Amino acid sequence: MSIARPARRIAVLISGTGSNMLALLDACARGDVAGEVVTVISDQPQAAGLSKAAARGVPVEAIPYEPGESRHDHDLRLRRAIEQRGADLVVLAGYMRILDVQFVQHFADRMLNIHPSLLPRHKGLHTHRRVLEAGDLVHGASVHYVTPELDGGPCVLQGYLAVRAGDDAESLRLAVHRIEHVIYPRVVGWAASGRLTILDGLPTLDGVPLQQPLREEFARS
Ligand code: GRF
Repeated sequence: MSIARPARRIAVLISGTGSNMLALLDACARGDVAGEVVTVISDQPQAAGLSKAAARGVPVEAIPYEPGESRHDHDLRLRRAIEQRGADLVVLAGYMRILDVQFVQHFADRMLNIHPSLLPRHKGLHTHRRVLEAGDLVHGASVHYVTPELDGGPCVLQGYLAVRAGDDAESLRLAVHRIEHVIYPRVVGWAASGRLTILDGLPTLDGVPLQQPLREEFARS
């Protein structure tokens, strides 16, 4: 059985409210994640999540795009900020910018994302509306490694629930968020403790390659 190197110093990238970031901070505080969030960085200086993280005593930083700045140059600044904090795991939690390919390659196998759909269905934006339009009977969230293909990296864990007749995009958003707050800290915890890595392109948990993502059903509240 191969055990990965633990990734205990975590950088979280956000653009908005940061509820997944807060769920991760809570999980670290409870001891469920054997790691520490060493920085929260946003491309949006006004992101609500930044002040929430600062209120918890986490170092925060806003790294907005400068006028005319290329993605490559911006993401190089982002990389330096992450490295200055000594982070060994990058957690995307509602970071709404597409990342430069070289940035992604630099953090290959060390960067996770959460996406509000059951990938590979509904990559991209407006997933809840698209689930309803498609008449899907199940919906959920996916935690995956980040590769240059948008929302296309190998999935580790998916949480799913039944779509109800009366659902609208907002009820699905709320229900899926509840799933996210459970499954994302769990996967980050696996990475932090060294149980999860990527071997030969496949997420590998406790030495067992995941040919398919792990899946967990969630009840509707
Ligand atoms: C989540 O729905 C996540 O799946 C997506 O962005 C949203 C971030 O929400 N990537 P929050 O800022 O964590 O509340």
